[in-house]
Amino acid sequence: MKQIVIEPVSRIEGHAAIRLFLDEAGQVQDARFQVNQVRGFEQFVVGRPFFEMPSLTARTCGICPVSHELASAKACDQLLAVAIPAAAGKLRRLLNLGQLIQSHALSFFYLSAPDLLLGMDHPPESRNFFGLAAVDPQFARDGIRLRQFGQQVIERLAGRRIHPSWVVPGGVNSPLAAIARDAILAELPAIIALIRTHLDRFKQTLDCHQEHIGVFARFPSLFLGLVNDSGTLEHYDGRLRIIDAAGAPAGDDLDPGEYQQAVAEAVEPWTYLKFPYYRPHGYPDGMYRVGPLARLNLAARCGTELADRELAQFRALVSGPVLSTFHSHYARLIETLYAAERIEQLLAEPDILDARVRATAGVNNLEGVGIAEAPRGTLIHHYRVNGDGLIEWANLIIATGHNNLAMQRGILQAAHHFLDGTAIREGLLNRIEAVIRAFDPCLACSTHAVGAMPLVIELVGPDGTILDRLRR
Ligand code: MG
Ligand code: NI
Repeated sequence: MKQIVIEPVSRIEGHAAIRLFLDEAGQVQDARFQVNQVRGFEQFVVGRPFFEMPSLTARTCGICPVSHELASAKACDQLLAVAIPAAAGKLRRLLNLGQLIQSHALSFFYLSAPDLLLGMDHPPESRNFFGLAAVDPQFARDGIRLRQFGQQVIERLAGRRIHPSWVVPGGVNSPLAAIARDAILAELPAIIALIRTHLDRFKQTLDCHQEHIGVFARFPSLFLGLVNDSGTLEHYDGRLRIIDAAGAPAGDDLDPGEYQQAVAEAVEPWTYLKFPYYRPHGYPDGMYRVGPLARLNLAARCGTELADRELAQFRALVSGPVLSTFHSHYARLIETLYAAERIEQLLAEPDILDARVRATAGVNNLEGVGIAEAPRGTLIHHYRVNGDGLIEWANLIIATGHNNLAMQRGILQAAHHFLDGTAIREGLLNRIEAVIRAFDPCLACSTHAVGAMPLVIELVGPDGTILDRLRR
């Protein structure tokens, strides 16, 4: 069999290789997206006190520390067997929404907009954020401003931008100050206007992307994510919902502690990244997707006025769930609008400045599961401790893992469509990378490795010889 390998994938968070296997007829027969490093975080934390877990796990990733902190703290709340104070829950939600905005801004404006606005075949030297800034400085300024807003929400709550240790088992460390609330509120009208401008602009470009919409991981799959009691969009709490490709529930909504009824993990010898699948359908038939696209497919409504209007338009794209991962970009912008509106709602709540923000207790349960929606999808932290509160076993299932099967399949679909011959042309390479970027994977999280990893693409022939190889 012939194969093509692409490594490292650029403009995604982390390091990886893509190998495309060709059959005798020169058609792409299989694709593997392979992550190369592992750091053994789950082993490393054994023996540590559980209360260190939120700040320890935040260090697994420089990209999504806030998401890890929240999932971890929720698992720890269960070990304590406490209900956290109402204000603490709202402040954690605010922190998560700040993280959602900064991360979605990074994914859309910095990492994917160069392809979307300059074109997939634009010369690679200037097909990046700086090239985009040169032709459209206002677009770049808006991207920077939006990301900064999200980061400032985090900073105004937690005090530090990177690796805050503000989220703790039982709640948060300190209440919100009135001055911080007012500073965030003052910026919101302009931020909401900015998001609406770029959402409108993005919608106008959809016609140009029909070919990409058609083959960027567009297939039936299950979708998984959190929803709250009323079935509304949820990023911090709630229950797990699984729907099928027609939009029907695949099973009952599950409490976080029941996640193993839905999710099992398979291992393949050629990659460190595991392959979660929907347990009742088996491996690999139980492929599902998580993230912005899944969340909008799952939820009955967003629960904020402007985002709900956008959601109605989004739903009108197709009947049933939106199946193309290309539309994750669209979903990301709607979620960004939702997040800004939701921040405004939360800051208006009368108890948001309440000083009671932390419940204290000792170890009352020996097992805890915490689930939160990271910007890129569902994040599960599951711990077992001994009577002294020392970690005996930990498992983290991250968004990039949940999407692993769908990413493999999406790369195969795009490669099949765009590969022409046995050489890796720039246009093919960039389109395959763009499929991966649409999933917004965090490879640092995937392998629990710290820092950025570099991607290689290889084209492998039927006899195993490498026909072409390209490295970023
Ligand atoms: Mg794991
Ligand atoms: Ni991460």
